[in-house]
Amino acid sequence: MSSKEQKYKADALIAADIDAYLETHQHKSMLRFITCGSVDDGKSTLIGRLLYDSKMIFEDQLAALEADSKKVGTQGQNIDFALLVDGLAAEREQGITIDVAYRFFATEKRKFIVADTPGHEQYTRNMVTGASTADLAVLLIDARQGVLTQTRRHSYLAHLVGIKHIVLAVNKMDLVAYEQSRFDQIVADYTSFAKSIGIDAFTAIPISGLAGDNITQSSGNTPWYKGPPLLEYLENVELNVTRDQDKPFRMAVQWVNRPNLDFRGFSGQIATGTAKPGDKVRVVPSGKTSTIKRIVTMHGDLAEAVAGQSVTFTLADEIDCSRGDVLAAADDPPEVADQFEATIVWMAEEPLLPGRSYWLKLGTQTVSAHVQQPKYQVNINNLEHLAIKTLKLNSIGVAEVATDKPIVFEPYAINREMGGFILIDKMSNATIAAGMLHFSLRRAKNVHWQVIDVDRDAHSRLKNQKPFVLWFTGLSGSGKSTIANEVEKRLHIMNRHTFLLDGDNVRHGLNRDLGFTDADRVENIRRIGEVAKLMTDAGLIVLTAFISPFRAERQMVRSMLPEGEFIEVFVETPLAVAEQRDVKGLYKKARAGQLKNFTGIDSPYEEPLNAEIRVNTTEKSAKEAAQYIVDWLFDLNDSH
Ligand code: ADX
Repeated sequence: MSSKEQKYKADALIAADIDAYLETHQHKSMLRFITCGSVDDGKSTLIGRLLYDSKMIFEDQLAALEADSKKVGTQGQNIDFALLVDGLAAEREQGITIDVAYRFFATEKRKFIVADTPGHEQYTRNMVTGASTADLAVLLIDARQGVLTQTRRHSYLAHLVGIKHIVLAVNKMDLVAYEQSRFDQIVADYTSFAKSIGIDAFTAIPISGLAGDNITQSSGNTPWYKGPPLLEYLENVELNVTRDQDKPFRMAVQWVNRPNLDFRGFSGQIATGTAKPGDKVRVVPSGKTSTIKRIVTMHGDLAEAVAGQSVTFTLADEIDCSRGDVLAAADDPPEVADQFEATIVWMAEEPLLPGRSYWLKLGTQTVSAHVQQPKYQVNINNLEHLAIKTLKLNSIGVAEVATDKPIVFEPYAINREMGGFILIDKMSNATIAAGMLHFSLRRAKNVHWQVIDVDRDAHSRLKNQKPFVLWFTGLSGSGKSTIANEVEKRLHIMNRHTFLLDGDNVRHGLNRDLGFTDADRVENIRRIGEVAKLMTDAGLIVLTAFISPFRAERQMVRSMLPEGEFIEVFVETPLAVAEQRDVKGLYKKARAGQLKNFTGIDSPYEEPLNAEIRVNTTEKSAKEAAQYIVDWLFDLNDSH
């Protein structure tokens, strides 16, 4: 097995069973940190030096290195060190596919997890991922270069994800003759920048990764520097200034245990605070209160449990509480809301579509959510705010987020676990963004759902019909409007109360501010969905004729309506046929390049996979298609 294979095996082992590995160092505190900088700053050299000089490299890595150095033969003292650095550099080059490389090492005092991410702007998402769990960031500066754009970018990102401890490692001091004045200048430059973005304190250390100055031992080359060497600082830095244990009690319920009628336990990992039997707790969002009866673990009951522990609580009362709810200190519960302002880091190739429904996952809570058009994007190099319409890969912006159900949260600045979230694409299941909640919007707190006496049922009873939405979808010129119009006439004759919403018409009024970009089409369909839903609440049968090219939005409207009330009709007309008909002459314009983003030409159409009804207009006339649909609706198919 080559050293690389062995190393990957070791990494896989760590990844698969990090707990087992870490348990051997259980008694020590752990520091998670991230290193920021690029190869040129000497990042790989520094990490290699830390791992090597701390002499506690993960055993397999060390074994691999020894094997390698034997093979190569000894070419001087630093052979192992050089090999290690090469290994890191090679991995960095492959880093495009590896999200974040984590390394583990330990000293007598502490154990460490280093997240190593590439420093370039195109790796912003990797850095945010690595930094989101870190306690500390080591920012590398090349003493010859001083504070650069990337230093500012990394500082901003570290601060953004809530890292409290910043170490400014002024590297390559050997190349500036260990001059104090150079070091002081860099520290002064950085101080004024750090203040401007809200970083109050940082620790600067003059080092040389290559020569080993002030890494594990104080260097004789910098007698003017009185602080500790880097490793000593990392070993001793005070963690969790406000310790998680000192915050109010919160635990998201991961599952409910009910092996028999006598036992009902709520399991999860305590996010913050402490709990003991007799403590009053509140279930959020419902607000119900009870008292902790027992704290059950595999190794017997506990008298007290603290942040970080995984436990099962039983309560004194039979109250409703299920997965996704939060158990919290009764007199100090977290907030519940469904509209927020948040900072969002976009991590996917495909840009944000404001208004599209994504999964939002915050702790154990998963809900549908959509993001509004961003208020601004932050230029992460100079921190300017830019007006934008969407977020692209690696861009960071501030936007409002709305969830379809209230969620339990705390501002990210106060509580990373309960304020940090990810967005997941509903179709591909890929994580597409990470976000940090700032605060809930006041309007969400003050707008309450009004209970209306003349409700949906009352409307529908008076009209003597069951409301539903007949959702036509298909290419431009496929015949949606024509067929929908024919269907409506037939329903009307049958004394049904109907209303037809048609793309071209609605775009003259309600949606006249929208064009044909993906984002505008998403918003177009979202609004139509809301209007159609209101009309069904009024007891109407609603027909809609919109291209509605995206599965995600059709699915969204479907999920807005009660089961069975969304009937999708795919008007199937091959592109060539629609183009040949070209009733409005738009295909011709699109082909001539005079009309951009035309569906079927340079804008996609995603065919329905499970439409309730399909009508092929090359096989049926509009009237036949309409009759077929009406028959389907009234289940007369068999008699025809
Ligand atoms: S949707 O994609 O947002 O659902 P909608 O059904 O409202 O589209 O509007 C489509 C109608 O707008 C077409 O029938 C056509 O008459 C007109 N139109 C103008 N420009 C475009 C375009 N770029 N793509 C598609 N339709 C367009």
